[in-house]
Amino acid sequence: MYVCVCHAVTERQVREAVQDGMHSVRALRDHLGVASECGKCAGCAHGIINECRGCANCEEAEACLG
Ligand code: FES
Repeated sequence: MYVCVCHAVTERQVREAVQDGMHSVRALRDHLGVASECGKCAGCAHGIINECRGCANCEEAEACLG
């Protein structure tokens, strides 16, 4: 699923970036371009950050990343 249509960024890419330590929309914007055009994806990206942060499943990330 695309999180950011403007930059064709998928949910998987966002989850991988959060897993790599990008825990803010700003960091995702700098790294992937998320929320740097129309901004409609910012809320969704923020939701994924909150969902991923503190989740203990990163050891088994493949299950999460699909
Ligand atoms: S959908 Fe992400 S900037 Fe437009």
